[in-house]
Formats: sequence, C-alpha cells, structure tokens
Amino acid sequence: MLIDSHAHLQDREYKNDLDQVMARAARAGVNTIICIGFDYSASQKAVDLAKKNNNIYAAVGIHPHDAKTLDEQTLEKLYNLALNPKVVAIGEMGLDYYRNLSPVEQQKKAFVEQIKLAQELKKPVVIHDRDAHQDILDIIKREKAGINGGIMHCYSGQLPLAVELIKEGFYISFAGPLTFKNAKKSHEVAQKINLDRILIETDCPYLTPEPFRGKRNEPAHVKLVAQKLAEIRNLEVEEIAHITSSNTKRVFQLD
Ligand code: NI
Repeated sequence: MLIDSHAHLQDREYKNDLDQVMARAARAGVNTIICIGFDYSASQKAVDLAKKNNNIYAAVGIHPHDAKTLDEQTLEKLYNLALNPKVVAIGEMGLDYYRNLSPVEQQKKAFVEQIKLAQELKKPVVIHDRDAHQDILDIIKREKAGINGGIMHCYSGQLPLAVELIKEGFYISFAGPLTFKNAKKSHEVAQKINLDRILIETDCPYLTPEPFRGKRNEPAHVKLVAQKLAEIRNLEVEEIAHITSSNTKRVFQLD
C-alpha cells in the first residue's frame, strides 16, 4: 500500500473526474492521500474532501505565492479550520524566490506566522522551498519549526542541507522529478539519507513523473516515484511502499 503525502485534489483540474482519479489511485494501491491547501479557499476544500472520504486527510495553509493574502483574519480562520480532526498538518507554507509572486518580506512573515500556528496546534509543517534554501534553513532553525515534525515537500536541495533539515526534525519528500533523467542531485539525496526520513508524493496536478511527463498528474502516479526510489535504493518496491507509508503515518500522526 502506498501513500501520496502531497496532492492537490481540490484543484479545478479534477472538477470533472475526481471519482475516476480516486478509483485509479485505489487500483494502484494508493490507500491514503494527504490533500494540501495552498490558499484559504483551497484549504477549506481540502477539509471538505477529507470529511467526505475516509482515506483523505488535509493540511491547511497559505503558499508563499499567496503570502500577501495572510492577514490576521485569515490566520484566525485557518486556526479554526485546523481544529477539524482530519487536519493533520499546516501547509503548504514557505518561500519561493523563483517566481516571487508575493514580496519577500511578506513571504517571510506569512511563513513565520504559520510556523507559530502549527506550534500552537502541535502539528507538523509542510514546507515549499524554491530557490530559498538558506533563508528556509535559517527560519526553521530560529523558529524551531520542526519541533512537531515537518516535511520538505518536493525536495530540490543538496545532500548537506537535507542532513541539516533531518537534524531539525524534518522528513524529505520526493515527487515526480526524481524520475527525470537529469535528477542526479536528487538521486544522490535519495540514495544517502536515512530511509526512515523519506516520503513520496505527487504534488498533483503538477510535477508528473516519467513516462507521463507533460500530462496532468494524479495520485496513482506516486507508484512511479516509489519504483524509482526502489531502483535507487536497490530495494523491492513493496519495501519502499511499506517504509514510506509508515514514515508518513508517523510524521502526520495518522491512526
Ligand atoms: Ni504542492
């Protein structure tokens, strides 16, 4: 059995065929999906999906692209949403210096406020880091962001940073790009870090793995990430499924 630890099933890409997407996930052995919020409305939708489906859990949070929307009122609404028992984490949150859709200072402020929210609720944090490795690490250390566990989603950094993050209480999650030919850096990280700190995800509808690159992604494809990881670690895919599932259950405290 596999877990997709980071999916955006509330995305409008699935508005016409979510039932079929879920059926294909089940057939691929994906029995649990964590649906991740990226703005307030997407967080609400994630919670709604989790309430309706036993095998879906939710994370609520504001992506760095939308950091400028995180005012005090939204923070309080997020807090209230997070009280639902199916909410297992706060996120995704973080810094994105590649697209810089919100000013850097606002990104940092929203990131820190959500770390504090997670600490108040004793929940792990789901972190998005694009071209912001050093600032992410500095804030994580200063705020003790990993105190209730954390996940670096779609990890794109080097091995030494992954080692530092693991020391801070974090898990490293791999997505479709692990299957790309030019992913040497991620292969090295996936090969060398402790197996009990690795998660797998799709980040669907984005980051579709090979051989479907370019098409819409969906949770069933997390199996392709598991297969690639099995190849890198020289293990059976069943062992990878078992290990990554138990890691995911541990960090999100799933029953
Ligand atoms: Ni995402």
